[in-house]
Amino acid sequence: MKRLIYTIAILLTAGPLLAAETSAGRNTGNTFSEVVVILFLIALLFLIVSLVLLKTVQIMANEIKNPSLVTLEEPKRMLEYSEWEATEKSSPGIWSKLMGLRPISEEKDIMMDHEFDGIVELDNPTPAWFMGLFYSTILFAVVYMLNYHVFEWSPLQDEEYAIEMKAAEVEKAAFLANSGELIDENSVKVSTEAGVIAAGKAVYTQNCIACHGVLGEGTVGPNLADDSWIHGGTVNDIFKTIKYGVPEKGMIAWEKTLTPKQTSDLSNYILSLQGTNPPNPKAPQGVKL
Ligand code: HEC
Repeated sequence: MKRLIYTIAILLTAGPLLAAETSAGRNTGNTFSEVVVILFLIALLFLIVSLVLLKTVQIMANEIKNPSLVTLEEPKRMLEYSEWEATEKSSPGIWSKLMGLRPISEEKDIMMDHEFDGIVELDNPTPAWFMGLFYSTILFAVVYMLNYHVFEWSPLQDEEYAIEMKAAEVEKAAFLANSGELIDENSVKVSTEAGVIAAGKAVYTQNCIACHGVLGEGTVGPNLADDSWIHGGTVNDIFKTIKYGVPEKGMIAWEKTLTPKQTSDLSNYILSLQGTNPPNPKAPQGVKL
């Protein structure tokens, strides 16, 4: 019986916990600490539910083993009861204390003076657990008010929102600066840094050689290693051509495929091809610089 009870309790606790974890995992909007708190609360809730269930099952199991005091014959019942009362009085169990249970011998003290058809009502004290809960809500309210409205230690929702938005703004700026999202055709800078050229070359090799040749000598697309340009040969012009393309002539707009940083690296790589005189060059097109 005990084993069964423990199994039920473990299943009751573990099942919802697992479910909560997977759903918390899916909710990527929450920060880690929020997820931990939610998980803790859920675990606590299910622990309490399991304990209550456990107690219920225990009581029911006892009932089956030794039929309830009520169903026993009167003398025996009184005997068993007085035994229980003796131990309970010498040291009331924690359960009796929590539930605010009073021994039957004290019933006459708490009996209310109305009666209906022989049914009387007991003025039982409110259980300790309930009073504990009640006082803790009062305590919570006081602490909450002092914290949020009197001393204003913690930010209210509006402030919290503003603070988070500000932090996000800073993060966003840092992210954009890192990924070069802020570079456009007006702000792109000439660079001969080896890292930039190498990065540009990698992107070029992956996307551009089909039409401009392995070394920029030109095939379908124009020669990028000569000093003649259809759309201008400054770093800004090249950036612009790559970004927006010349769709009607077969040059794709790369805006959506490449990041501004990649486009910037590419532009500098193409500039670095100037005067490299690759073999089999395509005849110059456009205006000579
Ligand atoms: C599908 C073929 C094709 C691909 C792929 C392609 N281009 Fe082009 N590109 C062209 C064509 C065609 C032109 C000429 C457009 C015109 O005549 O106005 C061109 C023009 C250009 C120009 C302007 C040259 C000038 O003389 O002004 C640049 C710069 C350029 N491409 C860079 C690139 C880069 C960088 C890539 C890779 C990310 C790339 N292209 C990928 C076909 C392509």
